[in-house]
Amino acid sequence: MRRAIERKRDGEALEAGTWESIVASYMAGHVDDAQMAALAMACAWRGLELGEITALTHAMAISGETLKYDDGPDVVDKHSSGGVGDIVSLIAVPLVASCDVHVGKLSGRALGHTGGTIDKLEAIEGFEGALSLSAFARQVRRIGCAIATQTDTFVPADKQLYRLRDRTGAVPSTGLIASSILSKKIAGGAHAFVFDVKCGDGAFMRDTDAATELAQILVEVARAFGRRAQALVTDMSEPLGRSIGTGIEVIEACIVLRGETADPRARDLSLHVAAAMLELVGIADAQATARRALESGRGYEKFLEMVRAQGGDRRALESLKVHERSESVRATRAGYVTSIDGVALGHAARELTVHERNAGIRIRVRAGDYVSKGDELAVVYGARAEAARIESAIRIEDDPPGSRPLIYFGTAR
Ligand code: URA
Repeated sequence: MRRAIERKRDGEALEAGTWESIVASYMAGHVDDAQMAALAMACAWRGLELGEITALTHAMAISGETLKYDDGPDVVDKHSSGGVGDIVSLIAVPLVASCDVHVGKLSGRALGHTGGTIDKLEAIEGFEGALSLSAFARQVRRIGCAIATQTDTFVPADKQLYRLRDRTGAVPSTGLIASSILSKKIAGGAHAFVFDVKCGDGAFMRDTDAATELAQILVEVARAFGRRAQALVTDMSEPLGRSIGTGIEVIEACIVLRGETADPRARDLSLHVAAAMLELVGIADAQATARRALESGRGYEKFLEMVRAQGGDRRALESLKVHERSESVRATRAGYVTSIDGVALGHAARELTVHERNAGIRIRVRAGDYVSKGDELAVVYGARAEAARIESAIRIEDDPPGSRPLIYFGTAR
């Protein structure tokens, strides 16, 4: 192991067999955390070649239970690299399933400032996010979709390595992030993936070059495993939806799925991701198909069916309410909203929701809006007093900011 660390430190690429044996030895306890942390830091510093990312992905993917869909139609999955107010999975998964395409989404919990889809769904009374892999696959085949958490026996090497990277400052590494994401996708057994790589101040990838590089690596490595893949690089310079929290994000997703007046950013990106998923399994006219599924209410009915299959019900979903205590955050000056700090809002929302699942933040403004002194910028729901912290996360200046596209880049199919 020492030799491998030294070679990586000096910028060499390690062979596939070396990666396999490092991961196996780490899981068996023959490589300790100090050595693994040194190797991770050398990777973060020197980078990983595509062949190394593929080998590390494979070694981690087979470190625990894996899922394989033997018969039946292809299964598609989507992945977000982590954002704030990101309700795309809650919308796109049932939309795609309502078009008779099977979707199996194994989801992570909240990571740092970013929200976790399972944490959101578990705000629905009775909803069971922890399914065994076999129950998960059965549900995908029976009703067309499932969203469940990754069990402890699923890709344990990534869990162990991610915790170590988090403790030692080695999370921001494109190669390690790519193999971490892909190991879970490959082990999850879907035939095709859409990767939504977030880019901007509220994301792990701060600029479009870094996000585009990650998007291209994710697609190339997924294809090396014989899977179909597409990636989008999308804006996270401000939260995607208007709501940040757990139950409060489910409420916003339902508003979109029911076709009620919704924030266009979350709806448009969800439609885009859903269309990319449909396209990957050969559905013609995917954009129009996704839109029809939304407008007809079929996506919402499929969402209800999934919630019911996992222990919740329509009443539990429709009785989701935000916390009764609320506090307005108001502009202390007039001007243009130039930025909305997703990292600060994401952390604040996670703290708010630790004890109160119906707490959260609802943003009233978008970057580029003009506000007068005293206008409401956001509403904070919950027992904790967070208004001052939220106020400082929404910046107001004299000049308007430049406009940013919602989608920067999409890889070819
Ligand atoms: N998401 C993951 O699953 N892994 C990383 O390393 C970063 C984001």
